[in-house]
Amino acid sequence: MPKTQYFVATSIDGFIADADNSLDWLDEADAQGNRVAEDGISPFAAFFAGVGAIAMGATTYEWVLDNEDLLEQPQKWAEWYDDVPAWVFTHRELPPIPGVRLTLVSGDVRPAHEAMTAVAGGKNIWIAGGGDLAGMFADASLLDEVIVGVAPVILGAGAPLLPRRLPSTRLSLAALERRGQFAYLTYAISR
Ligand SMILES: NC(=O)c1ccc[n+]([C@@H]2O[C@H](COP(=O)([O-])OP(=O)(O)OC[C@H]3O[C@@H](n4cnc5c(N)ncnc54)[C@H](OP(=O)(O)O)[C@@H]3O)[C@@H](O)[C@H]2O)c1
Repeated sequence: MPKTQYFVATSIDGFIADADNSLDWLDEADAQGNRVAEDGISPFAAFFAGVGAIAMGATTYEWVLDNEDLLEQPQKWAEWYDDVPAWVFTHRELPPIPGVRLTLVSGDVRPAHEAMTAVAGGKNIWIAGGGDLAGMFADASLLDEVIVGVAPVILGAGAPLLPRRLPSTRLSLAALERRGQFAYLTYAISR
């Protein structure tokens, strides 16, 4: 059965971006210790090999757009996400990236999830973030796993990992792995 997975890097205190919406702390943490395995495969690459559709919020999309200068260099999208189609949740008309399979959607996550499942061809659905969007999938009982790469940093404030209350009776630790200075934790969510 394909899964719907929220795979994300987080600080120890549960923030996925700092208070300035920056991910510089993640680059710094990477510089402390190599997350890439001896076979050259990063945790993200290993995870992404199983992904058939991506969902992300507007802030995340705009961050990727700006950070990778994608309107000027659209081919850089495929370096990260190959030709996997993405659904971007927004109330606005965000600029499309030439040649990239993007669908802008708004509101209820359930119809988008249905469309993603149909297109994913039996592969998993990746909720890329942010936390509230992952929460909307959890609210709709559509989130199967939270996979966090915990970076060795405490930020104090920022964008929350998953601003919902999910009791321990619904979460179970399914996998645990050390990669450099990062701890990767996979929690299965019962519906
Ligand atoms: N550490 C990591 O691995 C990681 C991963 C992903 C993201 N990030 C970072 O974390 C931050 C996340 O930002 P964020 O918390 O603001 O989350 P976000 O989910 O990226 O963006 C939130 C915005 O998406 C739109 N949106 C969300 N749900 C919607 C819905 N159902 N219908 C219509 N529009 C919807 C709204 O924007 P509009 O109303 O303006 O359209 C909302 O303000 C970003 O800085 C991002 O770069 C980090």
